[in-house]
Amino acid sequence: MSRKILVLPGDGIGPEITAEAIKVLDACRAAGLDIELSEGKVGGDAIDATGVPLPDETLEAAKAADAILLGAVGGPKWDKLEDISKRPEKGLLGLRKHLNLYANLRPALLYPQLAEASSLKPEIVSGLDIMIVRELTGGIYFGQPRGIEQRDDGTRYGYNTYVYDEHEIRRIGRTAFELAQKRGKKLCSVDKANVLEVTILWREIMNDLARDYPDVELSHMYVDNAAMQLVRAPKQFDVIVTGNMFGDILSDEAAMLTGSIGMLPSASLNEQGQGMYEPCHGSAPDIAGQGLANPLATILSVAMMLRYSLAEFELAERIEQAVGDVLDQGLRTADIAYAGTQQVSTSEMGDAVVAAFNKR
Ligand code: IPM
Ligand code: MG
Repeated sequence: MSRKILVLPGDGIGPEITAEAIKVLDACRAAGLDIELSEGKVGGDAIDATGVPLPDETLEAAKAADAILLGAVGGPKWDKLEDISKRPEKGLLGLRKHLNLYANLRPALLYPQLAEASSLKPEIVSGLDIMIVRELTGGIYFGQPRGIEQRDDGTRYGYNTYVYDEHEIRRIGRTAFELAQKRGKKLCSVDKANVLEVTILWREIMNDLARDYPDVELSHMYVDNAAMQLVRAPKQFDVIVTGNMFGDILSDEAAMLTGSIGMLPSASLNEQGQGMYEPCHGSAPDIAGQGLANPLATILSVAMMLRYSLAEFELAERIEQAVGDVLDQGLRTADIAYAGTQQVSTSEMGDAVVAAFNKR
């Protein structure tokens, strides 16, 4: 049976990078993968066309899809929208929430060819392979009440609620422990249990779960220390599990260890294995439309899609190897180029990956 993939290019560089990922999906199709692709609107693109960041049509198509490939959302054009519920980002957050995509996997893997591109010394980052497991449908991003209000004296205040239900912590904890079992068997849970009650509960539940996974070594770290350790000695980490906001921040930091945030894919999964796949980077409006964007994070997101939602492990590996091949050839988009490498455009990079894929 043919599997349905919904592509949501979104804003900024979104359309350029998803176009390259579609080339790779087409190459997979030529190699025998039975998929049906359709396109939809989300974010600013959807606001311009329909007035809302997540039109019903997009949400229905997303629910019916086996997997979703998303480019990026947001940009200065929509930044003036004061009502946060109408901003492009709400399209992305709405998809995550409505599809219950609670588990966000963000691997920070250093391709050996890119050790020089990292801002850290090669010996600090070479061999780096971290998996950040970020809770994606709860925490302060979604907690109620929230808002901006006015006091009687006319001054305003803003507030959000950092809340986690026990079952939400348990669910993401299990995902992380199971991933750790398949990797280096080390799990670091990141919290702020010296200050925030919600993360005291988080820590308690992680300790509780650890009894079911005696082969995994669990440790705990406060988020400020984790941010420091990630740049001091990042190879101490195998799997990191953390809440929505800390995960947002730490995954950007971890991404930079690998040379460029333009290299990092992500998967957001629900309990049924349905997933949304997107690069960790944003819409980069400053470089949109210039052929400067790195499509590799999106192409690697396709590999994650094949692995986690479509169980096409060989094709997933073949894509990852093809990415390694083009880096071996010395091809680099602007973000990862340095002396001695050959700078190529977004679409040249996509074409090179397809050529390498077809050769494998
Ligand atoms: C991410 C992004 C999003 C987030 C934004 C665009 C809402 O930064 O996926 O990391 O904060 O989750
Ligand atoms: Mg982010």
